[in-house]
Amino acid sequence: MTQATATTLALEAGEIEIWPQSVAIQDWIEPTVKIAVFEDTARFHPRLIERVLALETDPVLGKTFPGYVGSAKVYHVDRWNCPEAELIHRRALEMFHRVLGTDKVSVDLSWSNIYRNGDYCLPHSHVRSTASIVYFLELGLDAESDGDTHGGAGRGRFMFTDPRMKVCCREEAQAMTTPGGPIACNGMMLMFPSALVHMVDVYRLPGPRITLSWNLNEDPVPGAPLPA
Ligand SMILES: [Fe+2]
Repeated sequence: MTQATATTLALEAGEIEIWPQSVAIQDWIEPTVKIAVFEDTARFHPRLIERVLALETDPVLGKTFPGYVGSAKVYHVDRWNCPEAELIHRRALEMFHRVLGTDKVSVDLSWSNIYRNGDYCLPHSHVRSTASIVYFLELGLDAESDGDTHGGAGRGRFMFTDPRMKVCCREEAQAMTTPGGPIACNGMMLMFPSALVHMVDVYRLPGPRITLSWNLNEDPVPGAPLPA
C-alpha cells in the first residue's frame, strides 16, 4: 500500500485510522457548516499539543501576536515533523474531499492558533480559499475554574457573525443581531465557506486554547498567502 492510498498512520500510540468509520459528517443548523467529531483524541492530542507549544517560538514556523488574533500562530501544519500533526492534516484534507465530493485539494495555508487569557479575534473572513476548516484541539475548558465565564463569555467561543446566515439574523433578514456557532468540544472539526464572517470571543481560562486551521481549494491559487 502506498502512502497516497494508506488509510492508517503509525503514531507513538500505535496505528490509527485517518478517518474512522464511526465518524460521520453532519450539518450544523446552517447546512453550509459541516461538523465531524473525533473520539480518538486521547491517542494523539497530548503529543500534538506538546508539538504546537514547542513550535510557538520557532523562528521559521511560529509568529507571536499581542492577543488580537490570539497570542501566537504556528504555520504549515504539514511541516511540523510530527506524525500526530500529519494525522490531523490528513483528516482535514479528507473532510474537504468528502464534503465537496472531489478528489482534488490544494492547501493555501494551514496554521495553529494559540490563545491565552485575554486573547480574542475580531470578526473576519478567510481569503484565497473556498473552504476553511477549524479543528478544536484544546479549548481549555477542563481547566475552567474562575474568570468571567458567565453565560459562555470568557470561554473563547468560535462564532459566526455573518449577515448572510439566517442563524445570525433572528430578528430581521440580513441584520446580524445574533452571533452563533456550534458548541465546540475537543476533537471537533468544523468546515465552512471561507467567506463567512466569524470571530473568537475573548478567552479567559487558565490554560492555552489551541485550534488548527486550513484554507483549502480544489486547485492552487496564484501568489502567496503570507508575506515573504
Ligand atoms: Fe478565522
